[in-house]
This record gives sequence, C-alpha cells and structure tokens, in this order.
Amino acid sequence: MQNIIATHKYLLPLIVGLLIGSCNTTEPVVRHESIHGKSVETIVEMMTLSEKVGQMTQAGRNYLVKEKDIKDYYLGSLLSGGGSAPRNNEPSSWADMLDGYQAVAAETRLGIPLMYGIDAIHGHNNVVGATIFPHNIGLGATGNAVLVEEIARITAKEVRATGINWTFDPCVANSRDERWGRAYESYGEDPALISALGRAQVEGYQGASLSSPEAIAACTKHYIGDGAPTWGTGSGGNIDRGDAQISEAELRYLHLPPYLAAIQAETATIMASYNSWNGLKLHGHKYLMTDLLKGELGYEGFIISDWAAIDELPGNYKSDIIESINAGVDMVMVPGNTSGSGSSYRDFIKKLKQAVNEGSIEMSRIDDAVTRILNVKKRMGLLDALYSNDRSLIASVGSSEHRAVARQAVRESVVMLKNEGVLPLSKDLATIVVAGRGADNVGMQCGGWSIAWQGGMGNITPGTTVLDGIQAAVSPSTQVIHSPDGLAAANGDAVIVVVGEAPYAEGHGDRDDLSLSNEDISVLNRVQASGKPMVVILLSGRPMIISDIVEASDAFLAAWLPGTEGNGITDVIFGDYNPSGKLSVTWPTGMSQIPINLGDSNYSPLFPVGFGLSF
Ligand code: BGC
Ligand code: BGC
Repeated sequence: MQNIIATHKYLLPLIVGLLIGSCNTTEPVVRHESIHGKSVETIVEMMTLSEKVGQMTQAGRNYLVKEKDIKDYYLGSLLSGGGSAPRNNEPSSWADMLDGYQAVAAETRLGIPLMYGIDAIHGHNNVVGATIFPHNIGLGATGNAVLVEEIARITAKEVRATGINWTFDPCVANSRDERWGRAYESYGEDPALISALGRAQVEGYQGASLSSPEAIAACTKHYIGDGAPTWGTGSGGNIDRGDAQISEAELRYLHLPPYLAAIQAETATIMASYNSWNGLKLHGHKYLMTDLLKGELGYEGFIISDWAAIDELPGNYKSDIIESINAGVDMVMVPGNTSGSGSSYRDFIKKLKQAVNEGSIEMSRIDDAVTRILNVKKRMGLLDALYSNDRSLIASVGSSEHRAVARQAVRESVVMLKNEGVLPLSKDLATIVVAGRGADNVGMQCGGWSIAWQGGMGNITPGTTVLDGIQAAVSPSTQVIHSPDGLAAANGDAVIVVVGEAPYAEGHGDRDDLSLSNEDISVLNRVQASGKPMVVILLSGRPMIISDIVEASDAFLAAWLPGTEGNGITDVIFGDYNPSGKLSVTWPTGMSQIPINLGDSNYSPLFPVGFGLSF
C-alpha cells in the first residue's frame, strides 16, 4: 500500500504533466474563453500550469525557434535586446512585427496579449529615425524633472507607435565609480536627484493611466546596488555585475530611495540586477526582493530578471530557476537560444514545471507571480479589450516637435567647466575651424544603446551633428572649415574641438584608464599649437581625465552623450542659451582619485558636484 501511494505521489504529477505538456503541441482547435471583464483572481483560477508558467516567461524575439511557440508555450512576454530589430528597421516594420506576435498570442485559449519589452532608455533608441535624447548622466545635469517627464512622455508615444508597450527604463543606478561602463545610465550620485528624476521618468512613461493609448509600462532597474560594486569583482575582473561590498545602512541610504519613489509613482515593473551584495547575487536574494521590496516597501508590481541573469547563480539551470523564483523573481528574461536546448525558453518552461510538480516551488508562489503579472496587464488594459495598435502615432516618431524637446534637453545638459571670455562665440567670425572625431558624428553623440546594443560611430540614424549645428547657426558670411585632424586650426578665428569616448554599453565600457585617446590628444595638441582660441567639447558617458586639457583650453564644455540633436550644444556655444547644466557627478583630477563621491573625506576633486558656469 505504502508503495502504491509512493508511486502515485510521483506518477500522478508526471501523468498530469505529460497531459498538459501534450496539450501544448497537439491542441487541435483552440477554444476561446473570454477573459474580458473578469477579475485577475478568476483568470488565475482558470489557468493551467502551462499557461501560468508561460506568463512567467519572457523570450527574446530573435531566439524564437518558431513564431508559433508564442502560442504553444503560452508565452507572456517577448523582448528585443539591444539592436534586435526587424529586417527593415523602420517604425512601420516594428508595428507589423508586433501585430504579428500579438496575433499569435490571441490564438491561445485565454488570448492574453503579450507585454513586449525593449530598452527605450534615451528615446526609442533601437529604431532608426526615432528621437534620441541625452543619456541619463546628461539628464542629471539638467536637474529638470519636468523636462525629464516630458522626455519620457515623448518616448512612450514613439514606443507605442511601434506597437511596443513596455520599456526597461528608468535606470536609477547610483553610480559610485566612473570606471563603470554603465555610469552614463545613472543620473548621478545623489539619491535625492536620482529619486526625483526616476520618478519623473516613470510618470512620463506611464501617463495618467497605464491603459492610455500613449502610455507604456516602466521598468525601474537594476535592483539594487548596480552602481555600487568594487572594482575587480565584476565580469572579467572589472566592475560591471560585480559585488557591492557595502553595509545595509549604505545600501538603504544611497541605493534604495529611488525604488521607494518609483513605487510611489506606481512603476509597473522592477528589474533585478546582475550584481551581488556582499557575495550574494541579487537574483537569488530573497531578503532584498521579497522581504524588503515587496514586503517592507509594499511593491505590488512584478519583478523581472535581467538578461539570462539567473544563469549566473551558482548551481545548475534548474536550481537557478528554483532559487530565483523562490527568492521573488516573477518573470524570467530567458531570453533563449535558437537551438531550443540549453537555457532556452523551452528548457526554462520544462524545468520550471518540473520544479513545481516536484514541490520545489509552491503553487502559491506561482500564483502570486502570475497574479502580479496579470495585475499589470490589467492596468495596461490588456485583459479587457482586444490588442490594437494605433498606426497614426507613427507620424510622431522623430518628429520635429519631439526633436525640439531633445534639443532643449541637450542645451540644459551641457555643463560649462571653463570659459576665459571666449564664449559665447560671435556668429559673425570670418572663419571657424571645427576639429575632432566627434564633430560630425551622430553615433558618437548617441553612445551605447543606440540602434545597436553597443552603439556605433558615424551616421547610424538621422540627426544633427555639432558641425551641422554650427553651420546652421553662423551668419552666411562665416566660413566653417571642417578639419577632423585639426591641421587647419591656424586658419580659424576660433577652433571648436569635439573629442571623447567611442560608444560602448555595459561591461564593454569598464575602463581603468579614463584618459582621452591618443588620437584626441594629438588633435588637441595641434590646435593648441596654433595659438587660436580653443573651445573643447567633450562627448563622454562620464567624467574623464582632463586636467591638462582644461588648462590648455579657453573654454571647456562637458556635453555627455547628447543624442541626435547636436544643435543643443551649438545653442550654448553661440549664446542662444545661457548654460545652466550642473555636474551631478564628481569630476576627479586623476585616476588615483577614483572612486570619488560627494561626502568622501578629503574631497578635493577637479570639479565638485553642482559645479557649472554660466555666461
Ligand atoms: C541589461 C538590461 C537590459 C536587458 C535587456 C541586460 O543585459 O543589463 O539593462 O534591460 O539586458 O536588453
Ligand atoms: C543584448 C542586450 C543584452 C546583452 C546582455 C545582448 O546580446 O542585445 O540587450 O543586454 O546581450 O549581455
């Protein structure tokens, strides 16, 4: 008898599992059951394990083994990773692609529409022709929450135009170390500023109601301490994804406040972070995700894991799944591989179901995760109406109206670090020489997460370069000479040199030497030797080591990663706008000072937080 019971205990779930499993692929006719008007509780009661687990799965669109998997595996979500675009990267192709995916999702029994996530982190930056705004570090320098909310509202509209309903933004990292490749995704180092701008961004994305046709769900990230790791503990011995070796008091004081602000603004989702806190990976951290975030802070939305991040937990893939879900992750960004084996969404779904059937994950945890996900979908209006996509919004993508706001953001983000009476330049100078590899370079202005994951140099998308802006601003009699290497410097009444960092994203930007490149330094030396007034514009994702160059220049502007509207910089150069940007990060004198942050003892940087000149 004992044996039979024991056998049954293992056999029953297996048989049930097999039956459900086979339904996935053999279900001949899809019987629709309308969920419109039903409560989330009722819908969850109607759902099979396969349907629940599907809702908890986010696959990468380019890793779908076949499109029909959306239906066969009841996928709840898809994403485009950085640069994962349809063949024709233009808004209508994106909208077509989304309509296609949603049509497959609509064929499932319950017809629950997908949430489709994308990193629209400075505008709808994966889409050619979209308006690209300054990266967060530039927004931090504006200190302007009203403007930031407007930027998010515009971004939401451009995202919705392509049929997408969810952005993996805002990033509310408090970047403590300039060597971090994601420093530019951070608004700065003051938790109050980060909280204010993060909140504004959430409110702008989500609008008055998440179900409005121009709103998208926000995803506040990366929870928590992504900007806090110690150099040397990250991937490849650098810093990204490393270990934040800080006390709980410091974690709460410097890194938690923006999450409280985002929760107050009703952020629909929060993304867990790759990093560890004192040796424990966030993706397995029950105290931080469940007790603190969902318990103490009362967060009611859902937690999504980062890109294949659960795979980095110790143990095998199945234990990764069990540990992360039990710790509080509600939806897993798988994203997958096209072979369908290994850590693909198919494998994830299989193993998650096994874990539930074996009792390693309680059904109540699954129901909680699915309830959280469906509550968000309910708020978005996805459970009460058929999915529809408003093509009339496409005309707004990259519109002149949107670009004007981006230009305003650029003007406000420029921080003038030095001006020895040379700025503003007269628009009537006889000759202006424009030098440096950044002078005519939309890609360099945009930085990482622009069209491609890592971004790219040159004409990656329509925009206005600094050179374009200068040509448009000066009087018809002024001759503008473009001399990338600076050899023509002696011909100018003034020389504008645009230098800085080539694009990068995430750990690819971790650097323990933040000096300018040799190429940039040669151009600067050449221009300096000409003896002409030298205006330096730095395009960078973070403070760089510039003491000598500031010394040698007549004027120096930190323009960060301004995006597509370079004429916002020329507005400052020619005095159409009186610079107002203030440093949201500390500017070190040299590498030996890094990391350096406001509040450190012996704080003697090149420029402190809050610094920024006006005319
Ligand atoms: C990044 C996230 C991003 C996700 C999806 C991850 O590697 O850390 O910031 O949202 O990929 O592209
Ligand atoms: C994706 C990014 C993602 C990264 C994570 C890339 O292949 O395009 O979106 O953040 O992988 O490592």
